[in-house]
Amino acid sequence: MKKIFAGNWKLNKTPKEAAQFFQKFSAEYGQTKEQLEVVFFPPAISLSTVAQHASGAFKYGPQNIYFEKSGAFTGENSILAAKELGCSYVLIGHSERRQFFHEVDQELNKKVKITLNEGLTPMICIGETLAEREFGQTKEVLYRQLKLALADVPVQSQFVVAYEPVWAIGTGKIAEKAQVQEAHAWIFAWLEQNRYSFETPILYGGSVKADNSRELLAIPHVSGFLIGGASLEVDSFLKICRSI
Ligand code: PGA
Repeated sequence: MKKIFAGNWKLNKTPKEAAQFFQKFSAEYGQTKEQLEVVFFPPAISLSTVAQHASGAFKYGPQNIYFEKSGAFTGENSILAAKELGCSYVLIGHSERRQFFHEVDQELNKKVKITLNEGLTPMICIGETLAEREFGQTKEVLYRQLKLALADVPVQSQFVVAYEPVWAIGTGKIAEKAQVQEAHAWIFAWLEQNRYSFETPILYGGSVKADNSRELLAIPHVSGFLIGGASLEVDSFLKICRSI
């Protein structure tokens, strides 16, 4: 199974900066690595530039989508536009969307469904806060988020789960190997119990860097990464890609 390394650019890179990134990244990436799928989540305004430059070698998609295809929904992203731009993935439920934009699980479920209905792959982000971990609620939180995001989603659906402990995002504080291993095993078990494909990729996210990527990738049920900060610079992202 291919590993997936996805770069979440968050609110960074104008179209011009995105084009400059790809000029260097594409030149230095070399041959497409058979065993690796590289995905970019740029800000929506830079998505068409990324679509032009990714040219078959890399996948891409928006960081958020609306659960209606079109209409009077000022400021939202349409799945039809994403489809037209050749997007493969849609990032759904990133903790910053939940925290700053008050996205709730029921809404995320609708986003998962419209993404699947239009033939794109949802990358569903889940993860506990520090308080939830300290109160021993991690498993419960992960299971609740999975259950609600996937409510009434047919078992044959193809999607990706990204496990991102909120306290490890952008903090430089990497989850311990045992914590990652435990969370990924729980997620795998939940997917199995609920009859979803055992091949559903489960990515880890939260302060992934070139110097910890190899060790993280060796953990059972870690199928790749969702990478924020380290995906912004060509050199640091390439180093992670080469750690495979
Ligand atoms: P980080 O972000 O790699 O900068 O911690 C990860 C994410 O938010 O997806």
